[in-house]
Amino acid sequence: MSALLTVDAVSKRFRGLVAVDRLNFEVPAGGIYAVIGPNGAGKTTLFNMIAGVFAPDSGAISFAGERIDGLPPDRICRRGIGRTFQIVRPFPALSVEDNVIVGALLHRRHVVDARAHAHEVLRRLDLYDKRAQRASSLTLPDRKRLEVARALATDPKLLLLDEVMAGLRPTETDRIVAILKELNRETGLTILLIEHVMRAVMALASRILVLHHGAAIAQGTPGAVVRDPAVIHSYLGAEDVS
Ligand SMILES: Nc1ncnc2c1ncn2[C@@H]1O[C@H](COP(=O)(O)OP(=O)(O)O)[C@@H](O)[C@H]1O
Ligand SMILES: [Mg+2]
Repeated sequence: MSALLTVDAVSKRFRGLVAVDRLNFEVPAGGIYAVIGPNGAGKTTLFNMIAGVFAPDSGAISFAGERIDGLPPDRICRRGIGRTFQIVRPFPALSVEDNVIVGALLHRRHVVDARAHAHEVLRRLDLYDKRAQRASSLTLPDRKRLEVARALATDPKLLLLDEVMAGLRPTETDRIVAILKELNRETGLTILLIEHVMRAVMALASRILVLHHGAAIAQGTPGAVVRDPAVIHSYLGAEDVS
């Protein structure tokens, strides 16, 4: 079996509210999968459980064949799951380069090695020329790509992206899409993204999971999911998905 990530009957409640409800899905190594659904559907909660922010109330999460649910975030990151945050949070007073070096130091003891790796990541994310700027001085599209760079610097096998295209113009969205496709193709990086920007989802994902009130209401290829009446009713509505 080649699933890199397996989510098996996972649930999470916050007081009375069921945020994630007996969810099952798998992401194969080398895949690009998307999670979509309305606000409050449980998408970020799912990522938080995969990344170790909270343990599920029930169910199991396995990564590369081993249980990871209940492990703390640093252990999960060390095993090879990198994530971005929906609210971008670089260290604002640090330079772009130092923000990425912080991630690179996870698997490197020496700053010279971490810097070399950070430069490689910054080149991929089109941020190399801005490496000396303070993170706080970057525009939103650059901050979004810095967030991806910080996560990539930790050498993930699986990258979790939480709405990295939100608020971007189509040209900036297309730029991130192209970068992610190239990373996936050239390095075999597996990507799971939460995204509302359907232009990006359709261009990237080979499979889509649709969440609504914490439950999967559909899973399948982009073409099948966007034609699913339950998905159109609960999420897509009249949105243009072309
Ligand atoms: N830490 C938390 N404490 C209490 N409730 C939470 C917490 N995180 C999320 N929720 C609730 O869980 C539900 C799912 O939220 P979330 O996973 O952020 O949805 P999404 O990312 O799909 O918009 C929402 O009703 C939200 O208010
Ligand atoms: Mg969210």
